[in-house]
Amino acid sequence: MTASSLHPGALTPAQIEALDERLLAECMKVRFFPLVVQRQQGNRIWDVDGKEYLDFTSGWSVAAVGYGHPKVVEAVARQFRETSFATTLSALNEPSVRLAERLVGLAPGDFQKKVWYGLSGSDACETLGKMVPLATGRPKLISFIGGYHGMTGTAAALTGHTATARLPASGNVVKIPYPDPYRPVFSASPEAIGQAVLDYLEGYLFKTIVPPELVGGIIVEAVQADSGDVVPPPGFLKGLEAICRRHGILLLLDEVKIGMGRTGRWFGFEHEGVTPDLIALGKALGGGIPLSAVVGRKEILDAYTAVNMYSTAGNPVACAAALATLEVIEADGLVQRAADLGRYLLDALKELQSRHPLIGHVRGQGCILGVELVRDRATKEPAARETAKTVYRCFENGLLLFYGGLYSNVLEFTPPLTLSHADVDEGIDKLDRALSDVEAGRFPDERLGKYLGW
Ligand SMILES: Cc1ncc(COP(=O)(O)O)c(C=O)c1O
Repeated sequence: MTASSLHPGALTPAQIEALDERLLAECMKVRFFPLVVQRQQGNRIWDVDGKEYLDFTSGWSVAAVGYGHPKVVEAVARQFRETSFATTLSALNEPSVRLAERLVGLAPGDFQKKVWYGLSGSDACETLGKMVPLATGRPKLISFIGGYHGMTGTAAALTGHTATARLPASGNVVKIPYPDPYRPVFSASPEAIGQAVLDYLEGYLFKTIVPPELVGGIIVEAVQADSGDVVPPPGFLKGLEAICRRHGILLLLDEVKIGMGRTGRWFGFEHEGVTPDLIALGKALGGGIPLSAVVGRKEILDAYTAVNMYSTAGNPVACAAALATLEVIEADGLVQRAADLGRYLLDALKELQSRHPLIGHVRGQGCILGVELVRDRATKEPAARETAKTVYRCFENGLLLFYGGLYSNVLEFTPPLTLSHADVDEGIDKLDRALSDVEAGRFPDERLGKYLGW
């Protein structure tokens, strides 16, 4: 093991790992392999031993424009020199209003909009959960099983993921199934699952224990990411919007993970042509600098003064990073590129499916894709351990992939949108070899050690 060559006196990987284990809290981790990052550029990451990795994660969908993009680096450095910190809570600054202007311009809807700033996807969803009941006087919210909206109080209450199953729930949040065509509930067919969920909501829940006049909003992801990158059947989101309109309920779109171009449109919900009342943004928005936002109806975000604020939210450096990120997405045509690249990646993954029995289902929209691993294609028994092993083997092969899913068995593909076709070919080859090793039993159980993910 060598110490970092960039920093004299740097710790060795073993020292970093030991300190991390001793000092960093487990409740903030979801680790799949022992990667010690030293350097990043574009869609590549180097560890402290100088080994190069191709990144298919964007660090949970944050680095959409790649790592260390010169325009973002320059914008951050310039802004930090000018204003190392200025609080948007109690003073005005130019980047925060310029960014708000851009975000309001991107969001659809012929109504007056405003922007709220925070630091994480969790606090953006927290804002929806806090402000909607407060402003509408309707106490209840509806969210989806499998939906991931964050880990802070209200956001965790909205989340329907196994990761929050142990946390206290909120009595005012009612969770309903998300229409997963691969694992449909209600004995529905893959084609009928969207309508079946809508019928359950409007024809049963609203008529029994959830009077719609008490529901302030419904929060939904256009592609349900952390439950396994589930793409709902066409028409589902449109049907949900119609229900919201019939009952005066606000439609809340969580675009934290898929927004800013990843699906091949600026926002994932644009594929269905719906108009959300409020949109939560984060991750890719800040180009790597923590920043989140809610864009939407003025009357909700303006309902009260000083009830939802964070000292460092919307600071000029983060807003300058976001402005530069938006500029890069636009100038480099990354929205269209996400669509093209996503199709290419989807085809390559489907080809792998034809050769690897472990792959039960391949799905995606643009550059958010999921590959669900099963022990048996007929019973669809989730292959969770095999998923962990595949991801670890990919890491050994020089490819970074994470996994998620309600059953911890879905390989997730959220690469930087700057990837080339050659990068995709390279990554697919590494994944192909990893799957072959796991299927052939060439990756022993003990090798995983503590790297069991989630
Ligand atoms: C759809 C969605 N919403 C919200 C969040 C929470 O974001 P953060 O981890 O930045 O708090 C996530 C995180 O994965 C997410 O995928």
